[in-house]
This record gives sequence, C-alpha cells and structure tokens, in this order.
Amino acid sequence: MTRDEGRGRLALVTGAASGIGLATAELLAERNWQVVIADRDAPRAEAAAARLGARAVTLDVTDADAVEAVFDKVEQELGPIEAVMANAGLIQPGARPEELPLDEFDRIVAVNLRGVYVTCLAAGRRMAPRGRGAMVLTGSITASRAVPLHAYAPTKAAVVHMAACLAGEWGRSGLRVNAVSPGFVATPPLQAAIDKGLRDAAKLADGAAMGRMVEASEIAKAVGFLLSDDASAITGIDLPVDAGWLATGHWATYGGPRAPR
Ligand code: NAI
Repeated sequence: MTRDEGRGRLALVTGAASGIGLATAELLAERNWQVVIADRDAPRAEAAAARLGARAVTLDVTDADAVEAVFDKVEQELGPIEAVMANAGLIQPGARPEELPLDEFDRIVAVNLRGVYVTCLAAGRRMAPRGRGAMVLTGSITASRAVPLHAYAPTKAAVVHMAACLAGEWGRSGLRVNAVSPGFVATPPLQAAIDKGLRDAAKLADGAAMGRMVEASEIAKAVGFLLSDDASAITGIDLPVDAGWLATGHWATYGGPRAPR
C-alpha cells in the first residue's frame, strides 16, 4: 500500500545523488513527497531525479550564497519547502592528527558542519514565518563515541548538538529539527574503503548488537518518520539507526556482543 504522508508537499534533500540521501529521496518520492535532489554531483543528481520523477538542482553546500539562491529558485518554481534533510557530507579517511593536513580538516568542517548550518538557516528563515516545517540533519554514531576521525567525528557531534539548538530556536515557530545518526552503511565511500582494505566489513558488523551493518533504506525510514506528521511532537532529538552499535560497540572488553542462542 502506498503511504501518502507527503501529500504532494515539497521536500529537499542535500547530498541526495548517492547513498543515504538517495535512499531517502527514493522513500520520500514513494510516500508522495515532491522531492528536490540537491547535490554537487550534477550528472548523478539528474539521473536520480529522472528515475524518481523528482527535481534535481546542482548545489555545493560550502557556498552559502548558492544555498540561498537554490532555496529561492525552488520556492519560486515549485512552492514552499516543507521538509529538509541536511545530509551532504564527506567521510574522512582515518589519519593521525599529525598527518591530517589542516586544509583537509577545513574542507570537512566546511561541508559537514558549516554546510549543514547554512542549509538549516536557509530552510528556517523561510519556514519559520510560515509556521510549518521539519528538518533532519545527518549525524553519525561517531557523534557520541570517540573514534580516530579527528575532523569528521567532531563535526558530527556538532551537527547533533545543532539539531537541538535549532529545535529550541524555532520550536515556537512550528518547526521541528532532529538528527538521525547512522551506523555503518555500505554507501559508495565506505564500500570503497572496504574494497581497498582500509576498513574491515566483518569488524564493522561485529561491533553492533545485531551483528550487521545498516542499509541506507533503514536510515531513510527513520528520516521519513521524523519528517512526517507522525513525529509531530518530536524535536531536538538524535535518533541512532545503528543496529545497536552504540549499545554494544564497547563490549569488546567483555568478549563482544553475545552469540545467538
Ligand atoms: P555518499 O558519498 O554516498 O553521499 C554523499 C553525497 O553528498 C554525494 O552524492 C556527494 O556528491 C554529496 N556531497 C558531498 N559534498 C557535497 C557538497 N559540498 N555539496 C553538496 N553535496 C555534496 O555518502 P553517504 O554515506 O550516503 O553519506 C551521507 C551522509 O551520511 C554524510 O553526512 C555522512 O557523513 C553520513 N553518514 C554516513 C555513514 C556511513 O556509514 N555511510 C555513517 C554515518 C553518517
């Protein structure tokens, strides 16, 4: 049965040409949202939009003026944006801080933190006067557990905190702002790291209570819920979708999560 949560309303997803953003665009389109796929990768955004009956816009979230211009253009052409997923992000290769060039650090902050902020700002300044809207920011399990990703993990901690800060800012204007924190999802960048032997898929799965990684479509379902009216009293939270990695990721000292019985 097709769910009609979107009722033709407009949702914009950044970083929606691939991975988690693409899976979310697919789910929202299925649920009758009118979807805008905003990504710096124009050919992949166009291809995804054509397949989903969505609109593609080329957008680099590090350019704050471009973000404002895209929101203006989309609203002029399609109407008010009612849901936003601020998802565009870069995954950092593991590196010792002494070996992580500062310009690489700055690049990750520019996309994962500043890019999310300017996306939320563009959404909030339009939605708040209308008194309606919802945002989901893509956090990470690394927001709440220290890992040796010295640029990436702090940006994600900040993003999760930002969702709560902005929820307080705009709650009385009728906006809801939440974070979703994915566990390990074999999207193209993580799969590439696995294929190169930089990450071990078995270990990524093993740390989670459920002994597996997470599908992008499983993240999408959580985002779809938080953007929908079913989540009408939920704001300022971080919802992990991690197959239980946060619960048991540190059980290794006790022999790891229990084997099936
Ligand atoms: P992905 O690489 O498949 O998708 C990211 C998309 O963002 C790409 O289409 C890329 O072109 C776009 N993008 C990158 N920089 C951009 C920019 N400056 N402006 C506009 N678009 C830009 O990666 P994935 O895994 O789907 O990542 C999506 C989000 O999920 C990221 O925020 C990532 O940090 C987060 N995440 C991913 C996890 C995983 O295991 N894959 C785990 C936790 C969080």
